[in-house]
Amino acid sequence: QLPVILDVDTGIDDALAILYALSSETLNVLGITTCFGNGDITNTTRNTLTVVEMASHSVPVYQGASHPLVSPWESTAEAFHGPNGLGGTQLFHPQMRPESESAVEFLRRSIDQYAHDLVLITTARLTNVAALLLAFPEVSVSIRRIVIMGGAAFAPGNVTAVAEANIWGDPEAAWVVFHSGIPITMVGLDVTTQVPISDCMLKSLEPTTPYYALLQQAVDFYLGAYNPGAPKGDRMAPLHDPLAVAVAEDPTLCRTHPYPVDIELRGQLTRGMTVVDWRTRSTTRPNIDVAVEVDRARFLTTFAKRLHFDRVC
Ligand code: BDR
Ligand code: CA
Repeated sequence: QLPVILDVDTGIDDALAILYALSSETLNVLGITTCFGNGDITNTTRNTLTVVEMASHSVPVYQGASHPLVSPWESTAEAFHGPNGLGGTQLFHPQMRPESESAVEFLRRSIDQYAHDLVLITTARLTNVAALLLAFPEVSVSIRRIVIMGGAAFAPGNVTAVAEANIWGDPEAAWVVFHSGIPITMVGLDVTTQVPISDCMLKSLEPTTPYYALLQQAVDFYLGAYNPGAPKGDRMAPLHDPLAVAVAEDPTLCRTHPYPVDIELRGQLTRGMTVVDWRTRSTTRPNIDVAVEVDRARFLTTFAKRLHFDRVC
């Protein structure tokens, strides 16, 4: 089994990513760390505990950053994830509590324990990983890989014309991580927008699934948010975060290309952009494996099977 840690800001697609990871036979999820993002840190941590509990799992959850490294926190996610981060669902009050150890301490301890084997999967701002690297720079050589849901290499952004939410939400943190020398796979909007969940799939969720009620409410909200005004039945929305987990588990799901990628920190229009140097004559060393193509059918089939959807449609 591959030891992994998920870093999340749960979030509706984070919830699906957690369920995907916890149902894997090949991933050993050591713990889940939380970050602000799709809600404030209290919400994203509570939502994470809710999802873990709904999956009848007991993987430990460690609370992390409540704000970006440098800039103040600006919330942009409410429209897509609802006022509490899970589509406004108020039904769920987890019994589980976060561990007392901080996210950064847990990451450091796990990297020591699983040196050269551990893969980090991030589906949130990169604040926790950057804080780890700033406090304990020596750990960077012991991390096997980071699979990041974030960025947009050739696709447009989703918060601004050029910036994706997880990078835009803490560009300084992304800069630290992208410049760390750690092997990184960037699973950005180029591929995540190719793998949608749909009304039709949601309808096929097996009613005996323990998280049936949670997903019916949360995913319905998510589909509505991505398709304002569209009638129920025709809606689709991207499975951003589950794809990152899937690629960590099975790297053959995406074709990647090594590129030099930097993070724009200053541009008036471009802050938070992942700037890809794809010039054929570039002399800059590639630092990121950018996912450029996804096997859509294979991912969606596995996703559906794992989470107990009867159909891919
Ligand atoms: C990313 O932003 C968040 O809102 C989603 O959960 C996903 O991680 C997509 O840009
Ligand atoms: Ca997320």
